[in-house]
Amino acid sequence: MTTNLTKTAVAAVLSLAIATPVMAGNPAVKARQSLMQLYKFNIAQLGGMAKGKIPYDAKVASVAANNLKTLATVDQAAMWPAGTDSDAMFGDTRALPAIWATYPEVEQKADALIKATEAMAAAAGTDLESLRGAMGGLGGACGGCHKKFRAPE
Ligand code: HEC
Repeated sequence: MTTNLTKTAVAAVLSLAIATPVMAGNPAVKARQSLMQLYKFNIAQLGGMAKGKIPYDAKVASVAANNLKTLATVDQAAMWPAGTDSDAMFGDTRALPAIWATYPEVEQKADALIKATEAMAAAAGTDLESLRGAMGGLGGACGGCHKKFRAPE
């Protein structure tokens, strides 16, 4: 009897422990937002150099561009499960329902980012003018997806 009660209590505590992180934030949503933050950190270095706010450094620029190239190829399939759009989870995500409704259109935007990061990775370490030349395409690849698939803040 005591053992059964204890088991029930342990099970209740365990299910609470498992349920809490889900309530505190969907892990898939957090994962994709974290990936976006990694994009942001790396593109900020390139953008800072392009705008002359950070002195141009070929090595630093190459590292940031290669990071972006790698990050753009991360398989994100599991980070965008159905039911995690901004209608279903208002306040927790800015991912518009159009991502799922028009799928696989969003994949084209993801592919465009891969192409743009490849161009930047080839240019960033050459010189500042080359970096600047690839900046528009890279920023455009981020913005092109956000315009269509991300809700305003
Ligand atoms: C294929 C589409 C797509 C591309 C390409 C893309 N994003 Fe996003 N981004 C999104 C979506 C959708 C969200 C909203 C995600 C959410 O809230 O669940 C987002 C959110 C963000 C956020 C906010 C993250 C947070 O903490 O809530 C940042 C910052 C961001 N993107 C930066 C970038 C940068 C920089 C690039 C280009 C290097 C980029 N994104 C490329 C679709 C994209």
